[in-house]
Amino acid sequence: MTHALEIDNLCYAYPDGTPALHGISLRVKKEKKTALLGTNGSGKTTLLYHLNGTIPAQEGLVRVKDCPVCKENLPRVRRMVGLLFDNPDNQLFSTTVYGDIAFGPRNMGFADEEITKRVDEAIRRVGIEELAERPPYCLSLGQKKRAAIAGLLAMEPEIMVCDEPFSGLDPAVAGQFREILDHLKGQGKTLVYSTHDVDLAYGWADEVVVMKEGRILDSGSVDLLCDEDLMQEASLQLPMLAEMFKNSAIKPRTAREASRILSGFGLPAAEGRGRAADGV
Ligand SMILES: Nc1ncnc2c1ncn2[C@@H]1O[C@H](COP(=O)(O)OP(=O)(O)O)[C@@H](O)[C@H]1O
Ligand SMILES: [Mg+2]
Repeated sequence: MTHALEIDNLCYAYPDGTPALHGISLRVKKEKKTALLGTNGSGKTTLLYHLNGTIPAQEGLVRVKDCPVCKENLPRVRRMVGLLFDNPDNQLFSTTVYGDIAFGPRNMGFADEEITKRVDEAIRRVGIEELAERPPYCLSLGQKKRAAIAGLLAMEPEIMVCDEPFSGLDPAVAGQFREILDHLKGQGKTLVYSTHDVDLAYGWADEVVVMKEGRILDSGSVDLLCDEDLMQEASLQLPMLAEMFKNSAIKPRTAREASRILSGFGLPAAEGRGRAADGV
């Protein structure tokens, strides 16, 4: 099976009547990095919350590796699909960071020894050893996000769903997050994330899904983001590098690639920094 997630005709309106999703159908490829891209209010968060049953489907169906996301299957689904909330306050509620990170594996029924192993490894991977005994509520946003991602890592889900994973992070920490997530992808995990940052999606996705007003306008390879009509329809700008290399046969996706190409033409090499969000 090549799909980690199958979504068919998902529709959702919030209890106050606000419509958020209108007939979303999508296949998410296994072991790929898929970016959901859209302006504020386009339905990204609502769609992501359906993927592990945080929001139950009103109409339509989500399947995780053939397992329907429904009330009876929630424990199984949550072992397979980890969700990182945009706002880490939705995720952190223990009295210490350590307790928060241990919550997931404990809930999954692992023995104490395995829990300790997973938590220590997650803390080490994210580099928050000095925060382990602190209460989450008094951390900075970046520290909270790191604690939340450590909690996700400790559960070792096959599919990681991250809502705006880099929002509010400084470029260095965002770069560290990308490295952690890339490392996991290298281990065969599937990553789905939302963003409104076209440059990020252009440089750091295998597949993109372009959303507007609760609908998918198009999905496929990252080259879609060079389609001016599509981007205009989605009220998004072309990625900066797509704009710069619009009439060129070469299409660098990151500042580093662009720098390499330009230096090959004998031009002074770029600094390799580009926009912070480009980041690779
Ligand atoms: N709790 C809520 N109650 C009512 N409407 C909501 C709620 N959360 C989101 N919405 C609405 O649902 C639509 C989709 O929102 P959302 O999924 O948060 O979009 P995005 O994540 O792309 O910014 C928007 O119109 C938004 O105003
Ligand atoms: Mg959102």
